[in-house]
Amino acid sequence: MSILCGKDILRTDTLSDEELDLILRTAARFESVLQCGGRLNNMDGLILATLFFEPSTRTRLSFETAMLRLGGKVITVADPKTSSAAKGESLADSVRTVEGYADVIVIRHPEKGSAQVAADAVSIPVINAGDGAGQHPTQALLDVYTIQKEKGRLEGLTVTLAGDLKNGRTVHSLSYLLARFGMRLFFAAPKGLEMPAEITEDLRRRGADITETTDLAAAMRESDVVYVTRVQRERFADPAEYERLKGSYIVDMAMVRQAKPGITIMHPLPRVDEITTDVDAYEGAAYFRQVANGVPIRMALLALVTGRE
Ligand code: NCD
Repeated sequence: MSILCGKDILRTDTLSDEELDLILRTAARFESVLQCGGRLNNMDGLILATLFFEPSTRTRLSFETAMLRLGGKVITVADPKTSSAAKGESLADSVRTVEGYADVIVIRHPEKGSAQVAADAVSIPVINAGDGAGQHPTQALLDVYTIQKEKGRLEGLTVTLAGDLKNGRTVHSLSYLLARFGMRLFFAAPKGLEMPAEITEDLRRRGADITETTDLAAAMRESDVVYVTRVQRERFADPAEYERLKGSYIVDMAMVRQAKPGITIMHPLPRVDEITTDVDAYEGAAYFRQVANGVPIRMALLALVTGRE
């Protein structure tokens, strides 16, 4: 039985090195089986419930694809307006109900800390697919898996995280994983959207090498990877503030040409206008390959927490 059997996946700062390594290796194993045309039925007889209280395209569909690729079945609440949440049911009551139907729960919810609330309410594994401006651990895992595939290694790299580092849950989760591999990190954010100080301080206490800057172009000249994020409109109380900040960073081909040669461009997607479409043809533009890597990573997570790896 794996060390992750029966566990929740809620954040990245509490994952052990051993667990992280196991997830990456299991994903690579599943990916190679699929690539060779093989079939897997590890999750035969199990049911995944996906509960999405916030919009999603990639995360929900890739979790569902992952479950189906492993021979399992899926039930879903894709639109909270159609569930009892719309009648005022608490999150804890909703997940307790779902526990009676499913073997594992994947949840996305607008409130920070909600995945923990769900996990505390049930005894089956809960996987956090994004809790407000909190964490998004499965995205961070597929991001690390992508960097490993694109660069052939994880050690000794310089990575820039760019954009809305304040509200972006993907970068909150990802920074902890990157710091573990001793990467040199640039946090490039416009004023007002910097990485929360408690995260930066915590990372530095753990020995991370972090440079905070507003100069994205300069950071890209020194980086092997740039991870661009969307300004998170739904987290702004003041629409005028969003309008003022939304165009702060736009990565186009002119900027890529000025960057470190061979730089890999990543983005969790959806992009709004942070990366112009002319960059899509650049060979280091990895964002659609990154999307596809969500399937093997989520296959690994589902199988590991249910003891079916
Ligand atoms: C991200 C999210 O939901 O946090 N999307 C995703 O899951 N790939 C990023 C975003 O919405 O900006």
